[in-house]
Amino acid sequence: MKEQLVVLKEQALEKLEEQSTLQQLGDWKATYLGKKGELTAALRGMKDLSAEERPVIGALVNEVREALEQALEAREEDMRRQEREKRLREETVDVTLPGRNVPLGSEHPLNRLIREAEEIFLGLGFQVAEGPEVETDYNNFGALNVPKNHPARDMQDTFYISEDMLLRTQTSPVQGRVLRANVEAAKQRGETSPQPVRIIAPGRVYRRDDDDATHSHVFMQIEGLVVDRNIRMSDLKGILTLFTQQMFGADVSIRMRPSYFPFTEPSTEVDVTCYSCGGEGCRICKQTGWIEILGAGMVHPNVLEMAGYDPEEFTGFAFGMGVERMAMRRYGIEDIRHFYTNDVRLMSQFKSRV
Ligand code: PHE
Repeated sequence: MKEQLVVLKEQALEKLEEQSTLQQLGDWKATYLGKKGELTAALRGMKDLSAEERPVIGALVNEVREALEQALEAREEDMRRQEREKRLREETVDVTLPGRNVPLGSEHPLNRLIREAEEIFLGLGFQVAEGPEVETDYNNFGALNVPKNHPARDMQDTFYISEDMLLRTQTSPVQGRVLRANVEAAKQRGETSPQPVRIIAPGRVYRRDDDDATHSHVFMQIEGLVVDRNIRMSDLKGILTLFTQQMFGADVSIRMRPSYFPFTEPSTEVDVTCYSCGGEGCRICKQTGWIEILGAGMVHPNVLEMAGYDPEEFTGFAFGMGVERMAMRRYGIEDIRHFYTNDVRLMSQFKSRV
């Protein structure tokens, strides 16, 4: 019995060395120390021993158990330490390595100018509206006081999709959309007068032009529309002065020249001080000292009336800005085609500031 225990101990310790995972250690423990393990079996054999032998063997069994438990514990501890060290080694971060470069795209200069304009107008209490690029003939012309066969249509050579559908030639159709939506909303609420309007509507427009340094058949505009009681031409001039000074600098002046648009009366074209010469006169401004950036005027009573606004109660102003013109001026880009040829060398100069 004694030898048996000594052999068992030796064998168990030997096996213990061979176990290499915590899972295997668990199995080993069951085999030797568990309820159905070998040591328990040895204890059970004690009943056949003589009274003298029993305490001796009992002590030996306890000794073997203790030895095995201690060895197991040491082995477990050893394994945990090894595992911890391995993890630490694998997860080491070399903080001296240079960071990985994540290539970032850049904001298109036209989108950037529109975003900056939106920020300025939001600060002036405007909201941003939108309309589709594929429009009805009525929204693009009719609702803007330009009936079919009106000579003013020649001002904007149009891409027609069908008799009644076209690519919008201007952002002005958003005017009628917003006005009519307000009239509809007032009706729904059972109110007699529609709400006042103060919106801008940036977006893409199309005209059948031959492309050159200053013309593109696709370009962007920012429409503006304010309709309320007692709106006057001086409000238009005030808003445009605030806008241009925030956009181009406090030293910039604006100049309003009389013009013609079918949907505004009176109508005006607005120039800002030339960015290149500061007003002295140069090649860029054709020696005038001024650069035209937008068309504007007081909303024609017919436009208000067609949308359901009473022109006796409401007046308003509208403007349409050329985004490319302003972006060329603001960022010093000399050819409009640069905006549409997607050359990364140009784009990468407009890394977003956010
Ligand atoms: N839609 C006009 C254009 O594209 C500009 C404009 C807008 C003029 C609003 C007056 C009022 O030329």
